[in-house]
Amino acid sequence: MEKKLTDGINSQMNFEIYSAYIYLAMSSYLKGIGLNGAANWMKVQAQEEMVHVDDFYDFLHDRGECPELAAINKPPVKWDSPLAAFEHAYKHEQIVSSRINNLVDTALDIRDHAANAFLQKYVSEQIEEEASVNDVVQQLKLVEGAPQGLFMVDRELGQRVFIPPVKKA
Ligand code: FEO
Repeated sequence: MEKKLTDGINSQMNFEIYSAYIYLAMSSYLKGIGLNGAANWMKVQAQEEMVHVDDFYDFLHDRGECPELAAINKPPVKWDSPLAAFEHAYKHEQIVSSRINNLVDTALDIRDHAANAFLQKYVSEQIEEEASVNDVVQQLKLVEGAPQGLFMVDRELGQRVFIPPVKKA
């Protein structure tokens, strides 16, 4: 694979690890303030990010490249409110979307159709990633200042379950 695309995909693999890291930090913060449901939601989000890591890792190997693991930045420890944490998560997903779009541009530039096909999965996935976090942001805005509402949102977020992907043989 061309070096600039290999480097970009490798960098995205590491950014996905950072995504898992930041969501786990958010989960820890939310659990610490007693929102076990929201903490569960973020923990599942972190687990899903590690599925993305695995996918980028396998893609690099499948294309004959050796993924390089980089140092991962320390995420924040706390946020001003649950809403602030979820707003941060939404902004983070927008950054991921923009990074994926840049990778698609590179793949198309160098006519690497296999990489483009692989990345298109993430172009679609990002629509869902942004929408699901934004749904929670909107729900938290609706219940701002109403502890009973927050309790109900938290209970709903506690229903999220991590479903491991079926791996190809
Ligand atoms: Fe792997 Fe949430 O982007």
